Amino acid sequence: MEQSICTRLLRGSKKADIAAAGALLRQGEVVAIPTETVYGLAANALDEEAVRRIFEAKGRPQDNPLIVHIARMEQLSDLVEEIPETALRLAEAFWPGPMTMVLKKKPIIPDRTSAGLSTVGIRMPSHPIARAVIEAAGVPLAAPSANRSGKPSPTNARDVLDDMEGKVAAVVDGGACTVGVESTVVDMTRGVPQILRPGAITEEMIAAVLGEAATDPAVSKGLADGEKPRAPGMKYRHYAPKAPVQLFEGSPDESFSALYAQAGQSWDGVLCFEEYLPAMREKRSRLVYSLGYSWDHAAHARRLFTLLRRFDHTHARRILAQCPRSAGANAGAVNRLRKAAGFSALDCSGGRTVVGITGRTGSGKSVLSSLLAQHGALVLDADAIYHELLASDGEMLVQLNARFPGVLRDGRLDRPALSAIVFSDPEARADLNRITHARVIAVIRQRIAASDARLVALDVPLLFESGLDRMCHITVAVLTEKQVSLARIRKRDGITEEQALARLNAQPDDDFYAAHCDVLLYNRGTQAQFEAQVQGFYEKYC
Ligand code: TXA
Ligand code: MG
Repeated sequence: MEQSICTRLLRGSKKADIAAAGALLRQGEVVAIPTETVYGLAANALDEEAVRRIFEAKGRPQDNPLIVHIARMEQLSDLVEEIPETALRLAEAFWPGPMTMVLKKKPIIPDRTSAGLSTVGIRMPSHPIARAVIEAAGVPLAAPSANRSGKPSPTNARDVLDDMEGKVAAVVDGGACTVGVESTVVDMTRGVPQILRPGAITEEMIAAVLGEAATDPAVSKGLADGEKPRAPGMKYRHYAPKAPVQLFEGSPDESFSALYAQAGQSWDGVLCFEEYLPAMREKRSRLVYSLGYSWDHAAHARRLFTLLRRFDHTHARRILAQCPRSAGANAGAVNRLRKAAGFSALDCSGGRTVVGITGRTGSGKSVLSSLLAQHGALVLDADAIYHELLASDGEMLVQLNARFPGVLRDGRLDRPALSAIVFSDPEARADLNRITHARVIAVIRQRIAASDARLVALDVPLLFESGLDRMCHITVAVLTEKQVSLARIRKRDGITEEQALARLNAQPDDDFYAAHCDVLLYNRGTQAQFEAQVQGFYEKYC
């Protein structure tokens, strides 16, 4: 029988408690610590006996290696044989942070830590408490996620205690983790850096630093029967709550309508996006949790494990889950959800890919939509449709005139007059959008329904504000420096620098697009470089 020990609860905000955690670790004990990704079960990575205790507390198979955590760059050369220049550049860009690099290990790392492999995963976490504990221990810390093997990783101290009370010497409470899914694991030992486990540092971000990056196919499909995994962790059942997970993939609107049709039993647990909560309430389902808005990839990652674990404390007999869009920034959360569902999912997308393209005026969105058009995409430009409607949709004009009296002259819209009203008045702008968006969306829906194109590109400056993002299977922003956009708009529209600047300043900044979009394309270098990036985007996602 396993022996139960008394688990101390330490507070990460107290210096004395950090010192106590350091002392326990130096004595070879196991201590759970917060990191920015998930909580880890830490022990001295160089002490075989301490590491054995981690495997025991976790119930982890011996052949699944541990990640070694460091606090300073100098510690790296003590642990690994050779540090490729590419690894130094990634460390420079993403450490401290949610990225683990697999490198050739030095003999100082015991076989038990690396599960007998010649390589080791190293990570420098950014969480101040994790860093303080590593410093206090004075040794590198091996730390797998602090869950019992197979369960979702814990993202708060309460969830750690649920799994580890009586099994580890202490738990350091540092509140909720900000990232919520484990670090990106990237193998740096064989040519092109290869992502073995996706996380907050995306393939696109790594490629932006090194010029190339790839993702192991097992990440999205799971392993075929008998296939040998590149990361031992790939072959184990993972992240699974007690109730089976049924996953619905597609655009947010598509996955929700399929989920809605199936839900309805009193024992159904539902994981859906914030936008769909009101509709779910009509179903009188009680076990409904929100992953955040469908565009909010940071919220999906932050909430996923907490919510999966919460179902374990309910009477849910199955969990119906809306799957976020899978590209780019969502890759980590989607990979964990797919694993939780055993890589089986209902594809609700009807065989069509809708790409939502957004970004500020003059960023180069049209380069992307023309390339997709060359590949047979139906391209729908929301601004162009709006202008068509101004000429043809009498009812819309009447509504505009009712809200903004005087903007209609001889049956035509006085656009400069309307622009002057809405430019300085956010409430007026919201009303204008309410009137026009619904009509533009209706046209877009009709044209998609009437077409048999396999690929649809929606060029929509207000993609998220209009709600059109909910029809998309992938969202992408084209970004460029303000100066470049300014020059382009002035040349294209023949306006003054001041006017162009006012127009640009009224549009969201890069942070908005980074928070909302799955993928960002930077139109910075030459036209040819941008076209190559756009081609890469097409090949990967369309
Ligand atoms: O965010 C994280 O990385 C968290 C926190 C605590 O830092 N840690 C974590 O560790 O997730 P763990 O042990 O739960 O997951 C480590 C993953 C496993 O899938 C393992 O197979 C893989 O990394 N891995 C570790 N060393 C490896 C190696 N040398 N080669 C390939 N894969 C490796
Ligand atoms: Mg784990």
